[in-house]
Amino acid sequence: MNSLSTRRVLLGITGGIAAYKSAELTRLLIKAGAEVRVVMTQAATQFITPLTLQALSGNRVHTALLDAEAEAGMGHIELARWPDLILIAPASANFIAKLADGKADDILSTLLLATKAPIAVAPAMNQAMWANVATQENLGVLAARGVKVLGPASGEQACGDVGLGRMLEPPEIATLCAAMFGAGLLAGLRVTITAGPTQEAIDPVRYISNRSSGKMAYALATEAAAAGAQVTLISGPVALATPERVKRIDVISAQQMLAASLEAAAQCDIFIGVAAVADYRPEQIATQKIKKGAATMTLELVKNPDIISTIAALDRRPFTVGFAAETIDVERHGAEKLQRKSLDLLFANDANATLGSDNISATALWPQGSMALGPASKRRVAVQMLELLRQQYDLKHSQA
Ligand code: C5P
Repeated sequence: MNSLSTRRVLLGITGGIAAYKSAELTRLLIKAGAEVRVVMTQAATQFITPLTLQALSGNRVHTALLDAEAEAGMGHIELARWPDLILIAPASANFIAKLADGKADDILSTLLLATKAPIAVAPAMNQAMWANVATQENLGVLAARGVKVLGPASGEQACGDVGLGRMLEPPEIATLCAAMFGAGLLAGLRVTITAGPTQEAIDPVRYISNRSSGKMAYALATEAAAAGAQVTLISGPVALATPERVKRIDVISAQQMLAASLEAAAQCDIFIGVAAVADYRPEQIATQKIKKGAATMTLELVKNPDIISTIAALDRRPFTVGFAAETIDVERHGAEKLQRKSLDLLFANDANATLGSDNISATALWPQGSMALGPASKRRVAVQMLELLRQQYDLKHSQA
């Protein structure tokens, strides 16, 4: 993966022959893991059909500001708030002038005035239009406002001229967009993540466990590896595929998870305890299958070790991050666990809403503050969690 994973990219297409390349660009952005919504100017629809972009992006294409049906789906202000990046490709000379002027006379220019997202433009025009002082001054205005200008390239043009003004090729634009999100947020860091439930044996065929799916931990492992970290995933029994470039160690019981965690923690920078470790285990594991007999039976349970507290108490402890799935008073219980387990960061969430689901909302808590994350997919929230984690990790190390 790359840093476009789960990023929301709003692709604006303006009128120019290079608009036919926007179809390929949409495909590449989606292949890199981005969510893409397309907005087209009226002129752009003369070059490529909205239906093509709708089919490729999987989302309805917006072409008009005053379209009651489109507004009912996602209104233009909501659309302006949606993206992590607005990319205009191709950006015509006329549209660049409009953007520099701050005009809002169609859906795309209106969105650009209303958004707080970063903006990138990939100019595409005839070489004389590109060289014109007016265009160059407009680009200067945009650059001063922080708009990123991607390209253009030099070469043969649709009109027969040769020179600067061709739109960059779609793979180059996709690469530059990924770079805008800063590749390698966790480059060089060693991250250990515990995942899933543990199973505590009662006899050879029975165990005590819980409903943890492991999805949140696997999303974090996927995104941490994508962000350049060296990831060790210590996993209880789950039905999930091992994420790419992740070292997975399978365990069953809490005691096995503790042993694997201690070994990994000795050589990691960040330890994230996402596992729903069973709090208790049967005192005795029967060597043979227990036969049914009496109307009632009692199992004697003993407390399991608290893995994350053990890691946090190590002399050379990694930056230690916990989770708290609660059913009531989520933030209060989370804050109490952050302190009691001496964690650097904790994500508290509502267990009823989260267990087994693909979505999550959580509250991040650290000793000096808190922040709400989501609701969104576990993959997307994982990215937000890792960004916050990196900030807190840097702050802690700058104080050390
Ligand atoms: O179960 P509890 O709410 O206490 O879990 C809070 C945090 O502690 C989680 O990060 C979990 O992975 C960790 N934990 C642990 N060992 C336990 C119980 C919980 O590492 N025995």
